[in-house]
Order: sequence, then C-alpha cells, then structure tokens
Amino acid sequence: MARDQRDYYYRLAKEEGFRARSAYKLLQINEKFNVIKRGDSVVDLGAAPGGWLQVAEKLSGGKIVGVDLEGISYIPGVTTFRADITAESTVDLVKEALGGEADVVICDAAPNLSGAWDRDHAISVDLARSALQMAKKLLKPRGNFVVKVFQGDMFTDYLNEVRKEFSTVHAHSPVASRKESAETYVVAKRLLTGPVRKGDRLDIEIESVGKSGDGVAMVEGFAIIVRGSKLGEKMRVKIDAVKPNFAFADVLERKD
Ligand SMILES: C[S@@+](CC[C@H](N)C(=O)[O-])C[C@H]1O[C@@H](n2cnc3c(N)ncnc32)[C@H](O)[C@@H]1O
Repeated sequence: MARDQRDYYYRLAKEEGFRARSAYKLLQINEKFNVIKRGDSVVDLGAAPGGWLQVAEKLSGGKIVGVDLEGISYIPGVTTFRADITAESTVDLVKEALGGEADVVICDAAPNLSGAWDRDHAISVDLARSALQMAKKLLKPRGNFVVKVFQGDMFTDYLNEVRKEFSTVHAHSPVASRKESAETYVVAKRLLTGPVRKGDRLDIEIESVGKSGDGVAMVEGFAIIVRGSKLGEKMRVKIDAVKPNFAFADVLERKD
C-alpha cells in the first residue's frame, strides 16, 4: 500500500514536471492552510532539488529565494544559492537576495538519515530551530511559516516554541507524506511582533474600559485586554492569548 502511494506521487511528479515528489506535500499543505498567496515573496530553506521552489513559483509568481547546501539547477523566476541554514550569516545573504522581508518562509530541510532515530530526530529539530530563528528575522509582521520536523520526544517543545511566535499553529501530515514516514509539518500563520508572549507575567494599569466592560492597558503601544477590570486598577496579570494586534490577560493579583 505504501509502495503504491510512493509510486503514485513519484509518477505524478515525473508527469507534471516537478523535480521531487515532495512538491505534492506543499501543494496539499497550501490547499488546506492557504499559506502562500498570489504575489507573496517566499524563502525556501533546504530547497534542493527544487520541487517546493517550483510549487512556490506557481502559487505566488512573486519573488522566490531558495537556499541549500547543495546546488539547485535553474528555475525561471527563482533565485537560489548555496548556504548553510544553521549559519547566522545566511540571514543577510537571503535578505540581500530577497531585497526586503518575506511573506512566507518554508523549510523542508532534513539531515541525511543515519537510521539512528534519536540522532536523526535531534538534527531535524536543530534544523527546524534554525529555520524558526531565520523566519523571525526574515518575515514581515503576520507572515507565515511552514517547517518539517521528524517526530520524537523533542517535538512538543519545538511546537510550543513556534506557538509563542505565531497567531495560529497546526501540526499536519500531508497525504503525500509516505505512510511509514514520521515527518510532520508545522504550519504557523501570522507572525506575532507585539511586545508580550503567552505566559508572560507583568504589572499593568487599566487605562480605559471598552463597551463590553473589559479593561485595556497599553504596553509599548500594544493593547492588553483584562476581562472584568475597572478604570485605574493596578494589577499583576498573566498573558493568556496573543493576537497580532492585542493580547488577553488573566488577573493574578490586584494592587491597591
Ligand atoms: C528533503 S530535501 C528538500 C526537498 C525540497 N523541498 C524539494 O521539494 O525539492 C532536504 C534538503 O535539506 C538540505 N539541508 C540539510 N541540512 C541543511 C543545512 N544545514 N542548510 C541548508 N540545507 C540543508 C539538504 O541538502 C536537502 O537538499
């Protein structure tokens, strides 16, 4: 069964002119989550041989940049270069190639599999962490991020790290992933750029009260909404949920 599925996407990629069967994973992810839109600028980390680049170019038609340790043969409309995504200097190289910030960062990077599962999982999480750091530096506010991670005991920690930085985050396995594979794609939408994150504790003062009766405090121009609070109240709160333009907080302690 798994073999039939593998052959199906392999054959389809040959027929439709995609360089890698993995092209269908990105197409399926985009169909479900609408990560790449027409005109978006897209950065692909770990992009060789270029199947995802072909898909990104087709979906967006905007500026597309691909990076890999390996060379990538020419794709019309796409800029590629060789670099290591775990090296800090790569961010500047991508920015220069892109000529600005990205709407979307995608990463299908993977280690050469050794068969020692713990080792492969650890390297995969390391690559995904580098991709997250790069995405935070490259994306516009509200930009989107897709990254592959091999399942294992560090997966949940990684998922929580991504959850802190984006408005919505899903772990997803596309149908085109091989049945026996333990790869999962983390699909994160709308990069958060406000000054607070879920779980932060801070002291605030309610500066206004909305029609709904919720109090609002401002932190560096960012609204913190506290249900059932009064004008002028001082309190210690814990951030419960963060949206691109505001956050909800729970009261930990009211102060006189
Ligand atoms: C599964 S392939 C990507 C396939 C690609 N999405 C496509 O559709 O053609 C994984 C790639 O990650 C690259 N890679 C692994 N570690 C890397 C690193 N540190 N920096 C850049 N690329 C890396 C590998 O060279 C390999 O080409």
